[in-house]
Order: sequence, then C-alpha cells, then structure tokens
Amino acid sequence: MKATWARLELAARRALRRIEGVRDRKWGIRTSDEIELAALGAEGSDRNPYAPSRWSTLEKILPPAEVTAKDVFLDLGCGMGRVLLVAASRYRFRAVIGVEVSAELCEIARANVVAARSRLVCEDVQVVEADVLDYNVPDDVSVVFIYNSFGGHVFAHVVDGLVASFDRNPRDLRIVYHNPVEEAALLATGRILPIRAALEFKLTPDFDSWRSLRMYVVGSPSVRDVADGTPSMVENWSSGAHTDRARP
Ligand SMILES: C[S@@+](CC[C@H](N)C(=O)[O-])C[C@H]1O[C@@H](n2cnc3c(N)ncnc32)[C@H](O)[C@@H]1O
Repeated sequence: MKATWARLELAARRALRRIEGVRDRKWGIRTSDEIELAALGAEGSDRNPYAPSRWSTLEKILPPAEVTAKDVFLDLGCGMGRVLLVAASRYRFRAVIGVEVSAELCEIARANVVAARSRLVCEDVQVVEADVLDYNVPDDVSVVFIYNSFGGHVFAHVVDGLVASFDRNPRDLRIVYHNPVEEAALLATGRILPIRAALEFKLTPDFDSWRSLRMYVVGSPSVRDVADGTPSMVENWSSGAHTDRARP
C-alpha cells in the first residue's frame, strides 16, 4: 500500500511540475527544478534543498488586498525566486527581497526578475546572496515568507532575528510559513502567534500536513496580555481550534 502511494505521489509530483512549468515557458524564466544543495556546492548543516512553492501558494494565505504600498516582502531562502515574482507581480509591495545561500540560484533568480520585469508592478526587487545566519532582517520588512528553507539551529537563529527586528521597530510583521514543520520554535517565543491557516495541495496520506500553510504575527511581550483572546491563542492552535480559512 505504501509503495503504491509513493509511486502515485511521484507521478503526481511530476505531473504538477509540468503544469507549474507552463508559466516558466510563457514568461521565459526558470523556477521549476528541484535541486539538492550539494549539486550547487551550497550544502550545509540544517539547510534544505531547492524546490519551488506553487505559483498559487502565497495568494492562498495572503490576499493581495491585505498588502499596501508600505509593505516590504522578504523570502528567506528564495531559491530561483518564484515567490518573489508572485509578490512583485500580484501585490503592491514597496519592495521585494529574496535571500538565498546558493550563488547559482541567486543568479537564476536575478535573471528571472529581469525576464519578467514587464509583468512586475513592484520595481524594487532585490536578490541577496547570503546565508540567513549572516543576514539581518531589515526593520521595514512586514511580510516574511519561509518554505522549507532550513531547520534546527538555522531556523532558531532566524526566529530570534525576526523578534529582534520587531523589537527595534515594532510594526505589523506577518510571517507566512509554508510546510510549518518548525512551528514549535515560533510558538515557543510567546511572541509569535498563529492567526491563519490554509490548505496547500499536498499529496500525502497524512491529513494534518494538508493544513500546511500558516500565517503568524509577531507581537510585543505584552501582546498575550492585551490582545483580544490572545492568552488562549496558542492553546487553541494546539487543540486545532485555529482559524482555518480554506478547509474543505
Ligand atoms: C524549499 S526552497 C524554497 C524556495 C522558495 N522560497 C519558494 O518557496 O519557491 C528552500 C531554499 O532555501 C535555501 N536555503 C537553505 N538554507 C539556507 C540558508 N541558510 N540561507 C539562505 N538560504 C538557504 C535553499 O538553497 C533553497 O533555495
């Protein structure tokens, strides 16, 4: 049964990749590969390989109407920049920034931005080649996106950096986390609270991972005491009583 499921999953992943690749060909860009970091000479502890989000992923959890021209988008581990292109073409972000550890992926992402330029409404799109361990989150960033980029000590470092950035400049700071396997590290801060979940299409028998797209807000230390109902938000989340906007 397991082997059948694995074969089906592989076939469906390939089919999905072909479908998602249609936009690549139309836009003259390259975002659809899946690449191990060792093949790029960029492997490292707690770093995950490149695989793109789907073109529809960001809009499933962040409606374009909820972004204004004051907002700044940051994709930590942007790879070939597919989500940067979505953020810069479908939203009114003032700036869109991608951070990526692989020099080769950065080059591809920059070429993609150039090729897609006429389709982008945001003119300020930057791809920064850096390990997130050496990167300081700019204090005007208001939407952070993470998809399977890193885990363990790297994720913990990023979480500390996000809270530190908020403390330097308290502001609306949303985190979109696709496949939130390290969610516990966010919640453990007591400063990062889940506000929304959505479904990302994922072929797996594990139903829980269907709820694999989540949004959080960073708050001040007192947010749990003052926000409406907030003391129980984390507990509600753990018990499954969270806002799940798109459950079938
Ligand atoms: C699963 S891909 C996600 C790509 C993109 N965000 C998307 O959703 O389409 C993860 C990316 O994170 C990058 N990455 C892994 N560890 C990193 C680190 N420490 N610093 C910066 N980027 C990293 C990988 O090279 C890879 O391109």
